[in-house]
Amino acid sequence: MKKTRVCELLGIEYPIIQAPMAWITGPRLVAAVSNAGGLGTIGPNPEVTHVSTDVNVVADRLRRAIRKTKELTRKPFAVNVPVGVGQDRLFSEKCAEVVMEEKVPVAIVSVGGPGVYTKRFKDAGLKVIHVTASVKHAKGAEAAGVDAVVCQGYESGGYSGFDELTTFVLVPQAVDALKIPVIAGGGIADGRGMAAVMALGAEGVYVGTRFLLTEECDANPKVKEAAIRAGDTDTISWGRKIGLVRTLKNALVLDFLKRELGGASPDDLRAFLGSHRIMKALVEGDLEQGAAAMGADAGMIGKIEKAGDVVREMVRGADMVTEKLQSLGQAAQGK
Ligand SMILES: Cc1cc2nc3c(=O)[nH]c(=O)nc-3n(C[C@H](O)[C@H](O)[C@H](O)COP(=O)(O)O)c2cc1C
Repeated sequence: MKKTRVCELLGIEYPIIQAPMAWITGPRLVAAVSNAGGLGTIGPNPEVTHVSTDVNVVADRLRRAIRKTKELTRKPFAVNVPVGVGQDRLFSEKCAEVVMEEKVPVAIVSVGGPGVYTKRFKDAGLKVIHVTASVKHAKGAEAAGVDAVVCQGYESGGYSGFDELTTFVLVPQAVDALKIPVIAGGGIADGRGMAAVMALGAEGVYVGTRFLLTEECDANPKVKEAAIRAGDTDTISWGRKIGLVRTLKNALVLDFLKRELGGASPDDLRAFLGSHRIMKALVEGDLEQGAAAMGADAGMIGKIEKAGDVVREMVRGADMVTEKLQSLGQAAQGK
C-alpha cells in the first residue's frame, strides 16, 4: 500500500486510525494498533469502570493511560478530546491540558467546533485532526488550521452529525471542497471498505466498530458477543432531538423512539433516558438498561481478533481489491 499524506503527517506506515470509543479504547488497544503501523487513539475514560464527576480524577486517569501507552509503544498515537458544552467543557479543558503537558503527538478533536482547541494544540506542537459530519463543518475546520479532517457518515457507531449523511456521499464532496487530507469514518470494517473510500478520495480510514471486536478492546464480553451476533438491521440511529447516536436496537431504544415520535420534548426525553446508558452497556454489559454504541458495520464482523491482525488484514484486503480493479481496468482496455 502506498503511503498517503495522512501517513506522512502522522509518521505512520498505514493510513488506518483506530477511532476513539469512550470507556473501551485504552493503552493495550492503542499500542497494538500503533505497533502494527496504524494510529491508535485513547478515548475518553480509558481503562476505568466507573464514572467520576471530579475533573482532577478524570484528568489523572487520562495522564496514567497516556504514560502506560508510552511504555507499550514508541510509535505515534492520538488522544481524543471531545469539546463538549457546559459542564463537559470543564473536563475537556483539563484533559486538553494533560494532552499538551504529556506531549501527545496527535489530538483528535470531536463533538464541538474547531475554534476551541486548534490553535492551542498547534502552538504546543501537536498534529490536529478534527471530526466532522458535513462539508460545511469540514471546511470550517480547514479554515481554523487543522491538519486533516475525519468525515464521518452516520453508519458509524456512537454520536454523529444531525444531517444523516452517509460516508459514501460525504467523503467525495469533502475531498472536492478541501485541500487538506480527508479521512473517512463510518461503516469501514475491512479492506473492501478501505479500498472503496480511498477510491472516493479519502487518504485514510477511521475505524471504530471493527476494533471493538478485538482482544485488546476493553468492551464487556457481552457487548462483543452481541456485536458478533448482530446482523445488518440490528443497529439504529436515534435521538434526533437531543443528539443522534447509533447503538444496538433494544427495548429501551425502541421505547425512546416511540416517545420521540409521539412528540416528547427534549427535556422529557433526557429525563426518560437518564445518564450513562452507553457506559452501562459497554462497561457493565447491561444490554437491556444500557445502549451499546456500535456502527451498522457490526453486521459485517463475525469474530474477535488481535488488533494488529485487523490492521494487517485491512491493508492486505485493500491491496487485493485495488489489484483486482486494476486488472479489470486493463481487461476492459484489452491489455
Ligand atoms: C462504542 C463506541 C464509542 C464511541 N465513543 C466515541 C467517543 O468517545 N468520542 C468520539 O469522538 N467518537 C466516539 N465514537 C465514534 C467513533 O470514534 C467513530 O467515529 C466511529 O466508530 C466510526 O464508525 P464505525 O464504528 O462504523 O467504524 C464511538 C463509537 C463507538 C462504536
